[in-house]
Amino acid sequence: MKRVVVIDKDKCRPSKCGNYLCQRICPKNRAGEKCVTVGEDDKPLIDEDICIGCGICVKKCQFDAIKIVNLPEQLREKPIHRFGRNQFVLFRLPYPIPGQVVGLVGSNGLGKTTALMILSGQIKPNLGGSRKIDFSELITLFRGTEVQNYLEKLKDKEIRVSFKPQRVDKIPEKYSGKVSKLLNKTDERGILSGLIARFALEEILDDDIDRISGGELQRVAIAACLAKDADIYYFDEPTSFLDVFQRLEVSKTIREFCQNRSVMVTDHDLATLDFLADRIHVFYGTPGVYGIVSSPYSVRNGINTFLDGYIREDNVRIRPTPIKFESSYVQSTRGGSVLLEFSDIKKTLGDFSLTIKKGELYKQEVLGILGANALGKTTFARILAGEIKQDSGDINRKVKIAYKSQYPRTDFDGTVRELLKSVSDVKTESYKAEVIRPLELEKLLEREVKKLSGGELQRVAIAVALSQESDVYLLDEPSAFLDVEMRLSLASMIRRLVEKRECSAMIVDHDLLFLSRIADRGMVFFGKPGKEGYVEEPMSVEEAFDRFLKEVGVTFRTDKTSGRPRANKLGSKLDREQKDRGKYYMS
Ligand SMILES: Nc1ncnc2c1ncn2[C@@H]1O[C@H](COP(=O)(O)OP(=O)(O)OP(=O)(O)O)[C@@H](O)[C@H]1O
Ligand SMILES: [Mg+2]
Repeated sequence: MKRVVVIDKDKCRPSKCGNYLCQRICPKNRAGEKCVTVGEDDKPLIDEDICIGCGICVKKCQFDAIKIVNLPEQLREKPIHRFGRNQFVLFRLPYPIPGQVVGLVGSNGLGKTTALMILSGQIKPNLGGSRKIDFSELITLFRGTEVQNYLEKLKDKEIRVSFKPQRVDKIPEKYSGKVSKLLNKTDERGILSGLIARFALEEILDDDIDRISGGELQRVAIAACLAKDADIYYFDEPTSFLDVFQRLEVSKTIREFCQNRSVMVTDHDLATLDFLADRIHVFYGTPGVYGIVSSPYSVRNGINTFLDGYIREDNVRIRPTPIKFESSYVQSTRGGSVLLEFSDIKKTLGDFSLTIKKGELYKQEVLGILGANALGKTTFARILAGEIKQDSGDINRKVKIAYKSQYPRTDFDGTVRELLKSVSDVKTESYKAEVIRPLELEKLLEREVKKLSGGELQRVAIAVALSQESDVYLLDEPSAFLDVEMRLSLASMIRRLVEKRECSAMIVDHDLLFLSRIADRGMVFFGKPGKEGYVEEPMSVEEAFDRFLKEVGVTFRTDKTSGRPRANKLGSKLDREQKDRGKYYMS
């Protein structure tokens, strides 16, 4: 196999392009060969062996439905699974290791979920062909490797599998009734009550599954997965919807309750993955077209390899430039002037009270905001914007705030282009360069807003907020649903905008790596969610991380090679040393 052709059948409209334009313009077809044919579903099929990769059909297709990508020359293996002709194809598999947590990292659409589904027996791999294959054929492919051992046991049903699916928001479609009903069914190890306490689920046990929040669903799903008695536990994106405290608590719990068992986990939060995993497989390729799984690395090398973007064993660059973490930008060195100042502020809203220590916001600064959900972060921003009046305390001026809510929803009827046009001049070159390109929105412009995926809608919502003229941009969890590369590209983009526009940004986020890359200073929210919030003065990012990590009992240090913050494994020598010294974050 030299190249992969993928046709997006949802996008392809043969009747609207003048009747199979791709077929009519294909040079091979014009020379009498059958490169492009029409399948039983009346959609085109492209023969990868005949196709010469000229790309004419790709350029001419107005619906952007065709992708043709050359495979790396070094790739010798046959595919493991293909979803059909001209569909996504996966090469190689990661493999579980007893007693270890194996992490999978890579951009969206590279086959991480597909790999987990294969290893857990939910997808029967077809080795790239459409014929049904015998499981033993697959096992032969992996003869002499670790995968063989695992697949044999899976075939003989000697392995019990427990699986936490990626889309927890879909759980209410499958299960109804009370949370306790779902959880009680899973209690095979006698650890359920412990899990309920750790994940703070007591108060929702009597609630109906379809009434609880995304973060609650996620914790219920993780608890249900862990409570089952299995040899291997699969967690497909356990951190989405969770705040930063919950991410680390969940990670600690998984490690603790899965000692001597196998765990495989995929996530886009690298700081969490780093803390959770012992080993890492990097997924690379072209999203939606093909994915290749790297050999396993130690967790440190795996994440550094992914950030560096060069897979040595395959001699492949997965992105043009490495992702670097300079030590955090220090606001004072950029000499920004004060945008606004506030004295100690108090505000009570119903049962919730918020106490804010005095502080200031500088122009051209990004303030990273850390803390659990429901501690009053939005209330704080609305007070600064003058939308709600504080009970006591002063703010020296009113600023305009553009706001992106935590999980954007929309009932906008129309395309992305129409939505953006309603807030900004989409056509100007600077808008394209500053907003459209970094968020990769070009291809979404003609799509209907209502039909966007979570990650796509997130990017559009960020663009809408950043398109408004404002003094402060407050983005509540912009990293949610985005893959690592997009998170890091977003960080650079926001920094550039803030500097150019001489405004400031407040970024609430639960991804520590993302925050460390974007923030000049940090602010930490403490308290009891929904009851009281307490905010300290803005401080350096290092100090903010230190304060926050002390609360969760996890230590971090800076990685010498990549400059990124790295989690220490609980109980490791560094972890103990740092805790003895009271330094939870060391730069
Ligand atoms: N049943 C299916 N039929 C056809 N294509 C599919 C099917 N399931 C998944 N795909 C495609 O396979 C590719 C890989 O999907 P997968 O969900 O495994 O990616 P992923 O790495 O888990 O991505 P993410 O980080 O977004 O979760 C995607 O392009 C997806 O659209
Ligand atoms: Mg996935």
